[in-house]
Amino acid sequence: MRPHPIRLALAAWLALSSAGTALAQAMPTPAQTEGPYYPLVRPADTDADLTRVAGGPPAQGEVLTLRGIVRDCQGTPLAGARFEIWQTDHQGIYLHPGDGRTGQRDPNFQFYGELRTDAQGAYRFRTILPGPYTGRPRHIHAKVTPAGGATLTTQFYLKGDTDLAGDFIVRRLGKAIERVLIDAQPEAGNAARQATLDVVTGRAC
Ligand SMILES: [Fe+2]
Repeated sequence: MRPHPIRLALAAWLALSSAGTALAQAMPTPAQTEGPYYPLVRPADTDADLTRVAGGPPAQGEVLTLRGIVRDCQGTPLAGARFEIWQTDHQGIYLHPGDGRTGQRDPNFQFYGELRTDAQGAYRFRTILPGPYTGRPRHIHAKVTPAGGATLTTQFYLKGDTDLAGDFIVRRLGKAIERVLIDAQPEAGNAARQATLDVVTGRAC
């Protein structure tokens, strides 16, 4: 018996719409400038919890758990990718001699952290929302290096930040800004925020 034409049309529509979803998920994370403040010297503690330095007192600022999956453009999770982030403290100060206020920085903030994605390609950092920053919207820098692959250097921004529209780096991104926005939502049961942001990079991109 031949399949009913409506059933055929429905199957075709389903196939197209799921292909569309896969395509949307696989749009590469846009590369952006490294900026001048990649740490010259790594702090003594470089783990994935930037809110404390080696078990010391907590850093000031609003805690953010940032997590996601690193995939290639075909949607394959990338295990063992090196993931680095660096950013300012709650006052907008970097740990870098090029930042004139670096002497006033929060000594309890780690400023830089790195990890390897797990077997499912997942990453998870605990950090703070970067502080207001003169001349640019608040941002978190990132470098993601898949095992045996090229490094993606990019920046993440806070969704809804009113400083985004006037920023020259953000303007160059066009619609790709949507792929580097942190949508920080309250974490259940406490004052911290959490966000999920997947990264797409690697050989198939
Ligand atoms: Fe920066």
